[in-house]
Amino acid sequence: MTSLAIHWDTDPATADVQTSDPPVVSAHLAHAGVLFERWDTATELPTDADEAAVSAVYGEAIERLKLHRAFQSFDVVRVTPDTPGLDALRAKFLAEHTHTEDEARFFVAGAGSFFLHIGRKVYRVCCERGDLISVPAGTRHWFDMGARPGFTAIRFFTRPDGWVAAYTGDAIAERFPAPVA
Ligand SMILES: [Fe+2]
Repeated sequence: MTSLAIHWDTDPATADVQTSDPPVVSAHLAHAGVLFERWDTATELPTDADEAAVSAVYGEAIERLKLHRAFQSFDVVRVTPDTPGLDALRAKFLAEHTHTEDEARFFVAGAGSFFLHIGRKVYRVCCERGDLISVPAGTRHWFDMGARPGFTAIRFFTRPDGWVAAYTGDAIAERFPAPVA
């Protein structure tokens, strides 16, 4: 289920805000400068949907996002418990980092959790099918796909060589376990 919890960055055990209401999630994140949308998921896509299949269903929303957020391209990534090198892949995104460009993801299927460290707060956003999130460039964040991940997501790019992680060296992610098993 889509959800948002907002914590002080020193207090992972206590959430000041906890909601599973997508418009409320969107409003809180907008206040923090983060784009969050629900896209219409009336058409079911297989978890192994490729770029063409995704375009056929979400083409209009994809083009709107590209236009307004200056994304040049997108691809589709799928991770399952059988994905080779899973532990390393999970660990790569599990430490706090930033990018020089926005990190936008749309969940075609499955789920994953973004943790956004903005000011003194940590926004834990559990995304599921139909959720779009765009983490602004320079925002400290990490992503947990869970120990047994299962998701298919659209990734948007502003540059072909972009979206490189710059690690902050802060171990904060170790204090904020994700609810995704
Ligand atoms: Fe990232």
